[in-house]
Amino acid sequence: MKEIGFCVVGLGMGRSRSKMVAETEGARLVSVVDIIKEKADDVGKELDCKAFYNTTDAFQDDEVDVVFVMTPSGAHAEVAIEALEAGKHVISTKPMEVTLAKCDSMIAAAKKADRMLCVDFQERYNPENQKIRHAVDSGLFGKLVLGEARLKWFRTQQYYDDGGWRGTWEMDGGGALANQSIHVIDLLYWIMGRPQQVIGKIYTLTHDIETEDLGMAFLEFENGAVGTILGTTTFPENSLWGLEVNGSEGGVVAPIGTEYHWKFLPEVAERREQIQTLFPQSNIAEDVVSHFHNGTPLICPGEDGCRAVEILCAIYESARNGGKPVTLG
Ligand SMILES: NC(=O)c1ccc[n+]([C@@H]2O[C@H](COP(=O)([O-])OP(=O)(O)OC[C@H]3O[C@@H](n4cnc5c(N)ncnc54)[C@H](O)[C@@H]3O)[C@@H](O)[C@H]2O)c1
Repeated sequence: MKEIGFCVVGLGMGRSRSKMVAETEGARLVSVVDIIKEKADDVGKELDCKAFYNTTDAFQDDEVDVVFVMTPSGAHAEVAIEALEAGKHVISTKPMEVTLAKCDSMIAAAKKADRMLCVDFQERYNPENQKIRHAVDSGLFGKLVLGEARLKWFRTQQYYDDGGWRGTWEMDGGGALANQSIHVIDLLYWIMGRPQQVIGKIYTLTHDIETEDLGMAFLEFENGAVGTILGTTTFPENSLWGLEVNGSEGGVVAPIGTEYHWKFLPEVAERREQIQTLFPQSNIAEDVVSHFHNGTPLICPGEDGCRAVEILCAIYESARNGGKPVTLG
């Protein structure tokens, strides 16, 4: 079967994503792009692929099937739409963009071009997180009650100062919630469903940035469950993140990267054995290759990936209005 040709644009974290693509069976890293010539040349040399310094030249290449957008968050739509209009399929890193309107413009461009658009939320590929989704979807927890998302990481002032875009509304779309906590915000949405009401508060406590380094939210989901989000880059260690989810009969405490603790009422304790993973793909490159080669559904199509941005923007809207509840349409 034909290898799927990838072009990775933006070589900060995009450097490791390029490596991931190069190591994926069925995928071929055709090219990398960065407006900083040395970065493109360096990665091109290391991974033995073409190096470009602008997207226009890179997207003319017929060998490229899929463009993986790894530019700063507020520049995802412009690169994605250019790629779609050039006939390429597109993966966007998280968050999909910094406003829902910009996400919608990407979705519309993909529809118009009849091309694939998906979002790389790597925690959906984590088999332990898939098990939570399976338990909820199969009713193993009983009536869904509570979902808590938490991320307590550390970022230095230098991190925000480097590159000039982090911690800005225009290019980062926010701070600790938009950039880091978006991983657990998406997981919460993926497992609990869409909230209908969001209350948010944000604070800037230990960094000199325009946006928040600590944010909190209270959510009411369409299915009647409630939830919370807490995200911060002020914690002195870069380690605590995950979910806690429970229904009326079971639940899980899920600190990502460590052992998850599954709990069930004694009378339904055997349900622990029924929990399953959902799919074998272990990252976005495998997901996209499998989509084209085997027809498997994408794990996070654009229409799904924008939901985390919807929640994020609702938190910020509420915070701007003194914590007034925001109802999602
Ligand atoms: N999934 C993850 O775990 C993860 C981790 C880190 C970052 N990210 C996401 O990746 C994106 C980039 O973050 P980063 O930390 O790598 O940023 P970064 O500043 O380190 O790297 C961005 C790179 O993009 C280049 N660039 C900017 N505009 C460009 C354009 N139009 N064409 C080509 N290159 C361009 C810059 O020169 C820079 O090298 C953000 O959206 C971020 O949220 C995802």
